[in-house]
Formats: sequence, C-alpha cells, structure tokens
Amino acid sequence: SGSGTIAYRASILDSLGDPAELGLENSYRYFEDGMMVVQDGRILALGEAAEIMPGLSSGTTIRHYEDALITPGFIDTHIHYPQTGMIASYGEQLLDWLENYTFPAEQKFADPAHAEQVSEIFINELLRNGTTTALVFGTVHPQSVDAFFSTAEKHNLRMIAGKVMMDRNAPKALTDTPESGYRDSKALIERWHGKGRLHYAVTPRFAPTSSPEQLATAGQLLREHEGLYMHTHLSENRNEIEWVKELFPEQSGYLDVYDHHNLLGKRSVFAHGVHLCDEECQRLAETDSAIAFCPTSNLFLGSGLFNLPQAEQHKIKVGLGTDVGAGTSFSMLQTLNEAYKVMQLQGSKLHPFKSFYLATLGGARALELDQQVGTLEPGSEADFLVLDYNATPLMSYRMQQAKSLDERLFVLMTLGDDRAVKETFAMGRKIYSRD
Ligand code: GUN
Ligand code: ZN
Repeated sequence: SGSGTIAYRASILDSLGDPAELGLENSYRYFEDGMMVVQDGRILALGEAAEIMPGLSSGTTIRHYEDALITPGFIDTHIHYPQTGMIASYGEQLLDWLENYTFPAEQKFADPAHAEQVSEIFINELLRNGTTTALVFGTVHPQSVDAFFSTAEKHNLRMIAGKVMMDRNAPKALTDTPESGYRDSKALIERWHGKGRLHYAVTPRFAPTSSPEQLATAGQLLREHEGLYMHTHLSENRNEIEWVKELFPEQSGYLDVYDHHNLLGKRSVFAHGVHLCDEECQRLAETDSAIAFCPTSNLFLGSGLFNLPQAEQHKIKVGLGTDVGAGTSFSMLQTLNEAYKVMQLQGSKLHPFKSFYLATLGGARALELDQQVGTLEPGSEADFLVLDYNATPLMSYRMQQAKSLDERLFVLMTLGDDRAVKETFAMGRKIYSRD
C-alpha cells in the first residue's frame, strides 16, 4: 500500500564513487526531472519522474519542488560540539588557541544544563546547514556526551560521538586518568553505542594530552567492543608535531604514536593530516584509516594546506570536516568553497563532482556508513536535502548564466551556505524547514 509513501519530484543528484577512481562522468547520477520515493524512512525508488510515476501506488503523496536540487544529507567527519560558543576566536595558532579559548570553553560542560543547551544549539545549526551525520567531539565530561546523544536521538539522527580522553598537559578540571577515562568511556559505550542510529567513538584528544598508559586503554576499548570508532587529531600544526616528537621519543613520528597503541583501523578517523610523509600516508591506507580534511580550520589557525592529491595517490579514505570551533562555518558548502581555495594555493583544482563526493559519499565511506547514508540508492536511509538554487538574489542571477550541472554545482558551493538549504530530512522525516 502507498500509505505514508511520499514521492519527491525535483532535480536529483547523488554520488556513485570517487571521481579519482571512476572518472568525473561516471562518479555521479543525475535526474533533471527526477523522482525519489520514500517509505518507512528508506528510499524505495529513484529515477526520472516519467519512469517512476506510472508505478506509484495510489495513496502516494507527490511533493514537487521547482528549481531545487535533492541531494543526500551532508556528512561532517570532524567537529567539536562544545566549541560552538567559541567559534571565531581571534589571533592564535593551535596550541595557544587551545589554552586561551578552547580549554576555558570546555570546562563549562561539567554542568549538564549547559551541555543540553549547547547540544540543542549545535544540532539545530547542523540541520539548518544540511548536515545529517557527523563525527563529534564531546568534552572530557561524560555528561557532555549524554546530552549530545539525547538530543541526536530526539531527531533520530545517525551520529557518532565520544568523550574526550585527556590525562595530561591540560587544566586539572579537564583531565581524566587512564582508569577513569576507560571506565567513563565504557559506561557511555554501554549506554549509547548501537542505540537507534547512534555510534560511539573512542576519543583521545591528541597525542600530547594522553599518556602512553591512556593511549593503551583506548586500544583496549576498541578491542573489547564491536564497531567502535576511533577519533583524534593528527599532524595539524608544526609546533604540535615537534611537541609530539619530544613527548614520544621512542616512536618514529606522530602517526606511529597512535599505531604503536593499536589505534589505526577502518573506523579510525584522523582530523587534519596536513603534514604527512609518504610512509605515514601508506600506513594510513594499509590500515584503511581515514582523514578528515578541514579546510576552514586549517586556514583559520594557519596550520597549513592539506595535500588531497597525495592522499588520493595513496588511496586514503578522505572525508570533509568543518572542525568547528577552529573551523569558521557549519556549512559544508562553505567548507567546500575553502577546500577549493586550498587546492588553488597548491596549483590543483577541486572539481565540483569531487567536492560533492567529499561532502556526501566520501564522508560516508570514511565513516564506513556508505550502506546506510551518503547516497540516494534505494534501500538506504532517507537522509536528504532540498537545496535552493535561488537562495540569494546573487546566486539566482548567477544561476541564470550557468549552462551545465557542474557549473550550477560549483556556484552552489562557492556562493551557498545555510541559506541554500531549504529542507532537511532524516529517516524520511522533515526535521528542518528554512521557510
Ligand atoms: N588538537 C587537539 N585538540 C584540538 C581541537 O580542539 N581543535 C583542533 N583544531 N585541533 C586540536
Ligand atoms: Zn578538531
């Protein structure tokens, strides 16, 4: 029966694979006058409207959008929800920025009421920017993760998060110990991992703030539970890298510190990786680990330019991350705008289809979620967006000059932001509407 079945008619685009592997023309699927049928939270059918319509069951509701583009929901592979209130903090590079702005902001999450308030603001911000799945840092406080997951669960979002593990080189109020970090993480795993659409990420902040003993407990947690993620930072800033060498003289480099503690693997996501050598790239690839490319953050903190072609050559899984609050926008469109410029500064290009892949299927693959989200393949979860080509007068005027899909996409990514997101859906339910 067609009860509860909805058919969405608009232009529809999704990604089929990495343009670096398939070539640009084979990397996407596009229906100019398309139709996507959604039933029980999943995508039932996708194609040209003229082909889908005759097969619709009689009770099906049709929703027609003019001059709009339906895409999968965006996937943000690296973001800190506790840093929502300190985005746009002036003047420092990574290590001073952490001390002066980040650590003070994170201390407030000892208060569960504060954590709940910021969780609401943060998730609303994700949804109005079209992000339906994210890999999210909490703070050291377990209650920060309880608040985040509770809010995500209310919207039935597919989300990954974890409590920060940090037992040194940080204010006392923000440190745990190897024992308490292990125990608190384990309790959160038991409470949240696999509940509905939620997943847990073991989250050592970065090598400088964890003792070798604590990194060992992170590895132990990953061995003791199926399907956990590992989420941390890697080779973001030159001073940070020097500090890691001083703290871990036994290890051959930054990545080796994590490798030594068995923290690499197919659900391991490393934010940044701006300064990696070929050996490190090779090791990331052979362990099927992923990198989160965070262009607005890398520019804002003056960290450096991520070398995407190097990652492609080594076939490393790469997703896109906003890295709020070092990142300066929740918008994955604005993040792509900056990614394009990061490539320009290195003499390469970022094609709009590659960009679109990074924000959707590439992110899903980096998170091993591509069977669930990141495309509009029938059977997958109906997390999708309605994007508006006429979001602003300038975008609307510019779109009139655009001849091809890739040109329209490029304009959308360069000029677009939250204003271009008309509606956001999760599991077939509309959970945000701009107008
Ligand atoms: N490295 C360790 N912690 C952080 C953080 O909170 N943000 C960024 N950008 N890098 C980090
Ligand atoms: Zn970060």
